[in-house]
Amino acid sequence: MVSHPLSRRLAIALAAASAVLSGAAFAQQAKEVKIGYALALNSHYGAAALAWADTTEKAANGAFKFKQFPASALGGERELIEGLQLGTVEAVIVSTGALSNFVPDVGVVDIPFLFRDTAHARGVLDGPFGQELLGKFQKRGLIALAWGEQGFRHLTNNKHPVRTPADLKGLKIRVTENPVHITAFRTLGASPTPMSWPEVIGALQQGTIDGQENPMSVIVSAKLPQVQKYLTLTGHVYAPMALIVSPAFWGGLNDAQKAAFTQGAKAGALASRKFVDEVETKGLSEVKAAGMQVVESVDKAAFQAALAPAYKQYATKFGQKTLDQIASAK
Ligand code: PAF
Repeated sequence: MVSHPLSRRLAIALAAASAVLSGAAFAQQAKEVKIGYALALNSHYGAAALAWADTTEKAANGAFKFKQFPASALGGERELIEGLQLGTVEAVIVSTGALSNFVPDVGVVDIPFLFRDTAHARGVLDGPFGQELLGKFQKRGLIALAWGEQGFRHLTNNKHPVRTPADLKGLKIRVTENPVHITAFRTLGASPTPMSWPEVIGALQQGTIDGQENPMSVIVSAKLPQVQKYLTLTGHVYAPMALIVSPAFWGGLNDAQKAAFTQGAKAGALASRKFVDEVETKGLSEVKAAGMQVVESVDKAAFQAALAPAYKQYATKFGQKTLDQIASAK
């Protein structure tokens, strides 16, 4: 039977309309998840965000599609955390820099020389203490799913090589908006200048600050050798990152979807640690090749001794028992 041209055209039009409709239905099913963070896609933040997205999208059978906003595209870390509370962004990855202004208990992990090494820090954060700390975010309007990693923070500056605490005297060092870090650098005799990350590179170029402190992962990813001459491997503070979602978004998920996001966040945390392990082994030669003068070791005991008045304040704030519990963890 030869079909009538009109009915064939109608059939084609109907098929096209149904394809558009089913495409639209599929597109509606994949809910967009905006994810924001401070550094580039090819950083430890990007590695974590991409792994979080990939694992969650697969585990939730395509019900979600992450949209990446790297390089502070949605604002500094304070704005990102506020965005979660307001529900304008679904997921973020942030350092503890601004976090303790929202979840004060988190400040304890920012205490200088608290963790012996990476294994100690990872063990504490993955163990009961770190998991309980994640639980404390909820009361502050945040759902924290995992601890990722940046590495141990080191000092960079443009004035002179820093070898001893005395070399810090008067140096204008950008610190995060974090009371524990501010106290530490003030106690060491530097002039700590709290500043949001998106302003830092410009301030270093203009000379309104002399230096900053961040782990090797950030020094390499943010190309700090282009704006800083001297690096001292102080390793003064272990820097985790937190993978957090908005409570408004979380409240709309079913249990299986929540499990998918948690599984994704854990995969993201692991990806950041893998990135950090790699950058810790090759970063030093990279920054030297880029022209940085490096002081490779300092007398940590001298820095700890200079920090004695700060440790008294930390003990009052967080409780000596908590500090001892962390320090003695295997
Ligand atoms: O120094 C900071 O503010 C943070 O370590 C950074 C670079 C934003 C990464 O979270």
